[in-house]
Amino acid sequence: MNLYFDSHILSKESGFLIVPLTQEQAGAHKEKPFHLEGSSIQVELHDFSGEAGAATLVYPLEGPCTRVFAVGLGAEKDVDAERVRRAFDAGVKKARELKQSTISCALPDLNSKAISMEDSLKAAGEGVYLGNYLFTKYKRAGKDRYVGVGQAYFGFLDANRKLSVHALETVLHETGIVCENVCRARDWVNENADVANSLFFEKQARGLAQKNKLRCTVFNEKQLKRMGFHMILAVAKAAQVPPRLIILEYKGNPKSSKRMAFVGKGITFDSGGLNLKVASPATPPGFGIEAMKSDMAGAASCVCALNALAELKAKVNAVAVIPVCENIIDAKSYKPGDVIDSFARKTVEIGNTDAEGRLVLGDALAYTVAHLKPSLIVDLATLTGSCVNTFGPWVSGLASNDSFYARQVFESGQRTFERVWELPLYQEYADDIKSDYADLKNMGNSKMAGMLTASAFLGAFVGDTSWVHVDIAGPAFLQTPQAYIPKGGTGVGVRLLVDFAVHAAWK
Ligand code: BES
Ligand code: MN
Ligand code: ZN
Repeated sequence: MNLYFDSHILSKESGFLIVPLTQEQAGAHKEKPFHLEGSSIQVELHDFSGEAGAATLVYPLEGPCTRVFAVGLGAEKDVDAERVRRAFDAGVKKARELKQSTISCALPDLNSKAISMEDSLKAAGEGVYLGNYLFTKYKRAGKDRYVGVGQAYFGFLDANRKLSVHALETVLHETGIVCENVCRARDWVNENADVANSLFFEKQARGLAQKNKLRCTVFNEKQLKRMGFHMILAVAKAAQVPPRLIILEYKGNPKSSKRMAFVGKGITFDSGGLNLKVASPATPPGFGIEAMKSDMAGAASCVCALNALAELKAKVNAVAVIPVCENIIDAKSYKPGDVIDSFARKTVEIGNTDAEGRLVLGDALAYTVAHLKPSLIVDLATLTGSCVNTFGPWVSGLASNDSFYARQVFESGQRTFERVWELPLYQEYADDIKSDYADLKNMGNSKMAGMLTASAFLGAFVGDTSWVHVDIAGPAFLQTPQAYIPKGGTGVGVRLLVDFAVHAAWK
């Protein structure tokens, strides 16, 4: 989709105009018609309350707009970026229903200090772009030509505003870049597991590297063996398609010695291995084996976030490290009860082959610490069912050894509405993954606190490096859409990491 800024939104014809209004603004127009500034158009909004979630379609009798869709923002004092995203999502959904390919979007006219003009433009762009997404690649029957909204123009109804047009154009341009990368991550997650496999990731990474001047290093199976990535190799043993470790580097601030690393779980399909995932009454629908093509969502979001930073030309140094393979069943499968080695030379008892994410991540984290020496690591992983039980599909879990950076990831979560919540990494969780035979065990002995025993396992591979773990198991793949976040792959983590990277304060 293309997003354009047009300071006077009513200066041209439009088949569909989204007008967001607060409750107060809607109330003021209950009795008298709503006059679209700068034109002769008057619309009657009698029953439109302006409450969040309310919407009314009207057809002005004259003027440049065929249709005006009023969307509610609620009380002025409560308007925040998420309200704006959701209002514009409602707008774009209606435009889709009416098969509009070009739409106009009036920006909210707010006096409130709670949200700046730039932030409300960004949120409006996100609502429209992300709300317009659909994964239709495999739709054949009934496929019509309409492919959604292709162009969206943003501007103000009031033509007399003093604006820094250039700054607003920049906001919209950057919003488009980030949203395109969110949708790229969604596409990868929604793709069949046999298509979006480790070789697909390699090809995508190399393609993006070429396009955006990133450095790309890929370790193949032979190299992984030679270098001792035993945990990745164990998980990948049964798969037909060999594992890869992909490293993408972006240098946006050559003068700085600081660099952040994004490490993403890339299990292209998680069958559970020999501890096969079986349907259980406790598994909520959509979180069983049938959803496990989404177990590479962390990897997809790390690659797409890094690519977004490059396209934004952000002044930051970042590297994405992506272990990718499949956890499947074969005569060659790694087995429960095995003791295996790891890149970090710690031995690990396999308590359960379905706890594979921490294994591939443990090797990737140890490599990142030893060879890339980042100032900070953020990992994204669909790591535990336990995290889904705690937070549902609405919030990601966070665990960290560094409160300074954990706080900043939390704040990015608040700004982007990709919310994260921290749980404590107390010593007891590390004690719970001790093994009688090996240095570590890949599951807790107590079988309790699954998100935190998994976090403690990852923590054993980062040493003293600052590290923030984000368990996106709930929000990565939805059964029920949430406004501008569709069913299926969500691309969660892309906006979070980009926001974090561009705001990052270093220690
Ligand atoms: N990929 C799953 C976690 C998951 C569950 C993601 C539901 C998305 C939705 C992970 O590999 C897994 O199977 N974790 C197990 C670990 C257990 C066997 C120790 C879990 O959390 O149940
Ligand atoms: Mn698993
Ligand atoms: Zn998994």
